[in-house]
Amino acid sequence: MPRGSKSRRMEASQAIFVPMHSSRGNAQLLALLTAAIAACGTDITTTSNLPDAATADAASSADAGTDATPEAAAPSDAGGDACPPGTQPDGDGGCLSLTVRRPFLIGSSLRLADAASRTDWVAVAPPCDLSCATTRAWLAEAWLRDGLEEHASVAAFARFTMMLLAVGAPPELVVASQRASLDEVRHAKDCFALAARYGGGSRGPAPLSIDGAIERTPSLVDLVELTAEEGCVGETLGAALAAEQADRATDPHAREVLASLARDEARHAELAWRVVAWAIARGGEPVREAAARAIHRAITATRANPVREYPGVDMSSWRAHGRLACDEARAASEAAIVEVVLPSLSALGVGPAVAPLASRAEA
Ligand SMILES: [Fe+2]
Ligand SMILES: [Fe+2]
Repeated sequence: MPRGSKSRRMEASQAIFVPMHSSRGNAQLLALLTAAIAACGTDITTTSNLPDAATADAASSADAGTDATPEAAAPSDAGGDACPPGTQPDGDGGCLSLTVRRPFLIGSSLRLADAASRTDWVAVAPPCDLSCATTRAWLAEAWLRDGLEEHASVAAFARFTMMLLAVGAPPELVVASQRASLDEVRHAKDCFALAARYGGGSRGPAPLSIDGAIERTPSLVDLVELTAEEGCVGETLGAALAAEQADRATDPHAREVLASLARDEARHAELAWRVVAWAIARGGEPVREAAARAIHRAITATRANPVREYPGVDMSSWRAHGRLACDEARAASEAAIVEVVLPSLSALGVGPAVAPLASRAEA
């Protein structure tokens, strides 16, 4: 039994959590979020913990691939047999990382740069003596993918800052967004370094297309829809997954990177909920309804994402070096949905959207 049981899932983020009514780890994240919402002047009525469930998907979908296909990994598509009913392989080697950070969404599709040979986006990482070539190659692939997602998160926060300015947000929210953007630069460099550490070579991002990133001056509804999807769901689940990864990792360097990343992502999630609460307080019911729609859409999409297995990978080493098996990531993701996202929705007065999502979790 890993140390990463539910009660310790958010251990890596405890430094910024305020203990509330439960010893459960996610309750601490909930406390942080509801405190942030309360600070915005919105009435808070938190729900009790909803039933546990561990049946949902955690992988993020993507419309962009990478040039990384390590020979030893040969991460071939496991095919439809590896996908649960109603889901599809992603056509690019399956669920590569099973992590969700702040996705850079164009519409509801994840936008990433391709990978390119370069050294300037690669931080320093200590050498690793892991001997299994296949596991190393899969680790390199997974961390490269995470690096590209973290790199895209920089763009997501750059757009977020511009949208905050466009709707007249207070300076503290703009500052927090700018700081978060710098966090994402560090995350990307750390992830690219881990990819290189496991034999993936010195690679970083190719130019990132920003076509379609902002098509018009955003309204409060536009801001909330994007923030709810990228931040309230993406970063909340990303924080929970990173904490779970850190908790299971035994390699000191991977564990250190993930613990830092989990703390940052929890703070980014808190910012997203704070912005949504501020926007609802300012814009009223249309904004609240937009938040409900976006979060419902994001959770439904998350639960429908494909999964796959990792042929030839030593799963013990996989976990030791900071990765999760599909079922573990799905369980952590679903726990964050049930224990954090849904209660936070209730706190924002988005009750009608909560009921069907909770019903899905109980199924
Ligand atoms: Fe990040
Ligand atoms: Fe983030």
